[in-house]
Amino acid sequence: MALSIRIATTFALAMVVAATLSARVLADNVLLQGYYLNPGGALVNGAYTFIMQNDCNLVLYKNSQPLWSTVTYNRGTACFFTLQFDGNAVLYTGLGVALFSTNTFGLNNGSHYIILQSDGNVVMYNGSGTPIWATGTNGLSLTQIEPLDAATLESLQHAKSAAASISARVHAANVLVQGYHLNPGSALVNGGYTFIMQNDCNLVLYKTTQALWSSRTYNMGTACIFTLQFDGNGVLYTGVGSSLFGVALNDGSHYIIPQSDGNVVM
Ligand SMILES: *[C@@H]1O[C@H](CO)[C@@H](O)[C@H](O)[C@H]1NC(C)=O
Ligand SMILES: *[C@@H]1O[C@H](CO)[C@@H](O)[C@H](O)[C@H]1NC(C)=O
Repeated sequence: MALSIRIATTFALAMVVAATLSARVLADNVLLQGYYLNPGGALVNGAYTFIMQNDCNLVLYKNSQPLWSTVTYNRGTACFFTLQFDGNAVLYTGLGVALFSTNTFGLNNGSHYIILQSDGNVVMYNGSGTPIWATGTNGLSLTQIEPLDAATLESLQHAKSAAASISARVHAANVLVQGYHLNPGSALVNGGYTFIMQNDCNLVLYKTTQALWSSRTYNMGTACIFTLQFDGNGVLYTGVGSSLFGVALNDGSHYIIPQSDGNVVM
């Protein structure tokens, strides 16, 4: 992945042109933190499309011409690209294996924004509007991209994200089906029973306020999620993608259901 970034940067340096203010903010071309490009999901801006393909490759196209990609073609299934709350944007397989990242982890001070600009560059800006990652596809290297002006930054703070939000990946009822997440604070509920992915990273089954079971992962990470993967594995991941707890069973479709008798059953 470093290779593809290096190629893009070299290409960018070879073609120095004046920076244009092109970071216009439209809902369709902005990815905010906590949002996902699921398989088939895309940012669009005019002739440009930045799409998480079903084949696991994240590709920037101008019309039908590919300009840049993560070179992750066929390296996984149900792959998705997400801008995490830690400021890193990561492409994961459906099994949670990270194949590509923008390496912007730990730079998060305020929000990060990924914008598919009208000049064909995909740029991540930090909370004060400084570009911190780019595909380099309009001939500008990172240091040549203009910071966002105050008005654009202000509008980003109120912008809607393209693509699916974390909560849109969470199943509403008391059934967790494959491909869905329990995000921090989300729960499956059935009668007096609650199966909750707590903000403290512990996954706990409660009968009203009495804890009956937990994954014992209290404070072992931040922004932790529990997901029922397409491989049939139920895994608790930290916000940086480390798996802390898993239930491995792979034999067709799986469902996790907290029953009215207080048992949570897959
Ligand atoms: C954005 O990045 C610039 C350059 O690294 C840095 O000076 C600035 O403090 C950062 N802003 C925030 C809000 O982190
Ligand atoms: C964010 O950046 C500002 C300005 O650079 C700094 O004063 C502040 O301490 C930083 N906050 C965090 C949480 O890093």
